[in-house]
This record gives sequence, structure tokens and C-alpha cells, in this order.
Amino acid sequence: MTTTNWSPSISKAGGPLYLAIADALATDIASGRLTDGFRLPPQRTLADQLGIDFTTVSRAYAEARKRGLVEGRVGQGTYVTARRPASAGSAVTGIIDMSMNLPPRFDDPDLAAAMWDGIAQLQSSHGLDLLMRYQEAGGTSRDRAAGAAWLAPRLGEIDTGRLLVAPGAQGALLALLGALAAPGETICAEALTYPGLLAVAQHLRIHVAGIAMDAQGLIPEAFEEACRKHAPKILYCTPTLHNPTTATLSLARRERIVSIARQHNVLIVEDDAYGALPAKPVAALAALAPDITYHVAGLAKCVAPALRVAYVVVPQGRTVAHLAGAVRATAGMASPLTSAVATHWVENGIAHSVLAAIRTEAKQRQAIVSKILPAKLVQADPEGFHVWLKLPGHWNRSDFAARLRSAGIGVVTSDAFAATEPAPEAVRLGLGAAPSHASLAASLEVVAALLAQQSAMSSMVV
Ligand SMILES: Cc1ncc(COP(=O)(O)O)c(C=O)c1O
Repeated sequence: MTTTNWSPSISKAGGPLYLAIADALATDIASGRLTDGFRLPPQRTLADQLGIDFTTVSRAYAEARKRGLVEGRVGQGTYVTARRPASAGSAVTGIIDMSMNLPPRFDDPDLAAAMWDGIAQLQSSHGLDLLMRYQEAGGTSRDRAAGAAWLAPRLGEIDTGRLLVAPGAQGALLALLGALAAPGETICAEALTYPGLLAVAQHLRIHVAGIAMDAQGLIPEAFEEACRKHAPKILYCTPTLHNPTTATLSLARRERIVSIARQHNVLIVEDDAYGALPAKPVAALAALAPDITYHVAGLAKCVAPALRVAYVVVPQGRTVAHLAGAVRATAGMASPLTSAVATHWVENGIAHSVLAAIRTEAKQRQAIVSKILPAKLVQADPEGFHVWLKLPGHWNRSDFAARLRSAGIGVVTSDAFAATEPAPEAVRLGLGAAPSHASLAASLEVVAALLAQQSAMSSMVV
């Protein structure tokens, strides 16, 4: 075991000194400065070094023990026990997996520490009950109120009776489609859509009719034609920062889509996974047509994927009872523990700080993309964190993805998103998994170099 001559940075701190030391410890663990197994200086040594009372250091170490940051070993000292998550990429090569659409990793140790502190604080506010109980399928009233507060900038004030806490957007979609559509029925979705929606539809034996898109997203006239042809009950769509094409529907298109949906008695399932990212969002479909829209707002892309929490708002005049029943049947409920974490983060402003950090990081990463990849091939939005890369004529998507894979870079070809054949020659790059700007740039350089090559010249066939 290693002993550190660690010294906490507490100069800026206000409040009790022992808490400042425990906070500094949390920050240094979150930043990787202190890692698992490091032995902290003996309490008396640290007290002498800082010129403070021994009991203050003693209280600080006790506080850190309470937060699960350190453990005392009899006769051996105090050791760091908190593990920093493994990096998503290879530190050696700088090559990363761009196949997952993760929110970009932000480099803010204080914010990371605040997120973990928020989790630790649930122990004192909720006690063992939070770990040892089930709860209502739709979430506690406090969790639902936090959801309503989180959504207020986009949906205005909503009655929490219309809001349900679901086990992630994926869990919400399974419950929703199961409750709203019967096997054999047809729903509409953008021609390229979120693969998780296609998986749910396949699982439930529901057909998906793909609606043509252009660079601005779903084409209203194509939706109208699909309504006449298939008489669907549901339109599923992602109007903001669409996955995979990054398109955001204009207000005019949204209004037109709402009016077509009303005319043909179609319910809308608005997947707003990326809806919190734009600083000036276009009005949500659920704000334009609250009477016919189910709004699914997952926290995965704008706060943290591991929470597995999504807020679902049902149309005005309906209750969450039917959807809560479907959640109960499919997943039981959202995790009480992570729902409470989300609530705490929303109530204490941590969720908004994380969102701000993701927004800043997304912009910086998109700026790197525009420096490295040819603009004419890139469809992207500065506020999103994925890129839709349209391949030049000399490449087909499967060869291109295979060549990148052999260079250690994962991307997703259009096939994964295609509700309707044929899929275009394009791939999606997720910018979030790269642990640093340098590793993102290194990976994009590989992509750019490959784009410039002729595919026949890039592989040897004998
Ligand atoms: C449009 C869309 N909806 C939902 C999800 C998944 O959300 P969750 O992780 O909450 O299930 C994703 C993830 O990529 C997505 O792009």
C-alpha cells in the first residue's frame, strides 16, 4: 500500500474545517489525484502540518468514513476506498469507441464530488428505508414534483398527477407501446429512428412504418401520407437533436405535424432525450399539443445515463394509472434509490450544473469535429454530442465501419436506425465517450484519413 503525503486544499472553503477537509478528500478522489488503496497521512501528522487541532482532523476522517471515501484499518491507518470509474477510452492509443451515444465526460472534479456528495447525503435524509423498500410504480410524490420542476422550462407548469417516473426512457417506451398498441398494429416513426424503439416494437410485434425525412427532420407531408395509408394510432418521434441525424424540427413543422395528428386521431409519443440541451429550445410537441402527446424525458443524455430515470408526462385528461400498470408489469418501478438521487440533484441544482457542463463540453467537442472532418459530409448541431457522417461515394457503410473497427474505433452504421429500407450510406459518431479532447481529435483524425482513402485501396483482398 502506498502512503501519500496528501494535503487538502481548503483555502477557499467556508464553513466547518472538518467538512472542508472531507470535501477536499472527495474532490481529490473524483479527480483521480487520490486513488483506491492510498494511505492517508496519520491524523496527528496532518493536524501538525495544517496547524490545526487533532480532533478536527479526527472528525474530518470520520466524516470521510461516513461518506464511504475511506476506511480505517486497525493498527494500519486510514485508506482511500472510493474507486474512480475506469476511463472509457484507451489512454495509450487515444483511440475510442464512438458507437455509444454517451453524454460527454466533463472535467470538473468539484461537480463530480458534488454529485457523489448528493448521493451520500441521502443516507442522512432517507436512512435505511430508501434501500429496504419498494415504492409506487409511478414514483413518490416528491420524485414526481422534482420531475415537474425539471420539465418546467420546456413544458411550463404541469400537474404532477400527469407525471410518472419511469425506469429510463427505454423502460418508458416498453411500457407505453405495450399499453397503447396491440401486436400486429402499425405505428409511425422517422425513417431513421432510435434503435431502442425498433427493439421494443420488434419485441411487442408492432410494425413500424418509417416516415421520410430531409435535413430538417420528419417531413409533414410524408406523415400525412402514412396516416392515410396505415391509419396509425401512434407517431413516435424525436423532434430535438434527433438520433441519429441530429435534426431539430422547426416550429412550423411541429405545428403542421400536430395538426395532421389531430386530423387523423394519432397520439404522439415525443422522445425528448436531448430536449434539455438547446439553450433556446423550440416548443415541445407536448407544449403545443398537451392533449394528444406523451412526453418522454429521459435523464440519460442531459444528466446521467446510470440513473435509469425518465420522466413521462401523459396527455391532459388522462391519468398515469394505465401507464403505471404497464410499468409495474414490465419493470416493477423505477429504482427508488436512483429516483431519489435524481430528485436530490434536481432540488439542489446539481442536475442543472451537470446539464450546463454537458452543454459546454458538447460545444467544445463539436468545434473539434468541425476542424477535422469535412463539413460537406457532416450533419451535426453545435448543441448535440453526436454526428451523422454521410459517406462519400467511394465508401459503403459496412466497409467503412469495418475498417474503423480494425483501427480500434467503433461507429454505428445507418442499418441500426433504419425503420425503412434502404438505409443510407452513413454512420453515427458519438463524441461523448472520448475521455479527453486529445483522444477525440486523434480518433477523428483516423476517421478523416479513412474518408479520404479509396475503399478498394484500403484493404487487401487476395
Ligand atoms: C432518442 C433516444 N431515446 C432514448 C434513449 C435511451 O434513454 P435511456 O437511457 O433513458 O433508456 C436514447 C439513447 O441513446 C435515445 O437516443
